[in-house]
Amino acid sequence: MKPLIILGNWKANKSTEEALAWVEDFVKNWSSGGALEIILAPSFIHISFLARFIREKGLALKLSAQNVSQFNKGAYTGEVAAEMLRGLVEYSLIGHSERRKNFGETDEILAQKVRQALANGINPVYCISESQMSIPEGVKIVAYEPLFAIGSGRPDTPENADSVAAEIKKKGDFKVLYGGSINAENVYSFVSQPHIDGVLVGGASLSSQEFLSITNHVA
Ligand code: PGA
Repeated sequence: MKPLIILGNWKANKSTEEALAWVEDFVKNWSSGGALEIILAPSFIHISFLARFIREKGLALKLSAQNVSQFNKGAYTGEVAAEMLRGLVEYSLIGHSERRKNFGETDEILAQKVRQALANGINPVYCISESQMSIPEGVKIVAYEPLFAIGSGRPDTPENADSVAAEIKKKGDFKVLYGGSINAENVYSFVSQPHIDGVLVGGASLSSQEFLSITNHVA
């Protein structure tokens, strides 16, 4: 059996002190990596110190970026190129609905971002809100996040999320995560569905205790 994926997306939250306190608390209380693949997607500003922290402590915790630039490294002020993230993160979210909506990320831009990630050894976690949305070449992990469920406290039903995951899997050999209002109480009902390979957790990943509680419910 492949390990279930639990990916915590901090979005634009946490000072350096808060990020450090979160990982310190998490490692004190998390014992088994076992059948779970736990991934944290912090802001870019936290990635290099968290990568060092994880390496030094030998933690079974992986890092994801929340985004990568569609451009190569170079004269793109304010951007973070995939090449700069090489070796620091194993994954990057690409196409989160908040980026599509607030930053005008089109399918074409997102396909460029996927190419940049893949060229730098970073696995894209490609976010879509409906099963018929296009998925760029080379993607292996898709996150289904219906718009109504993100940050609303109203998740999709596990049965519907599972049927969407099954639809997505008809299009290719994908792992499918569900995201949208996941918490410790509902996580098991999603990961126990046959076509769901893990969860993408936003708000509930901000507290290390809540995130631990989610990982414990799944473990
Ligand atoms: P939420 O966010 O868990 O706060 O609903 C999920 C996401 O946007 O990835």
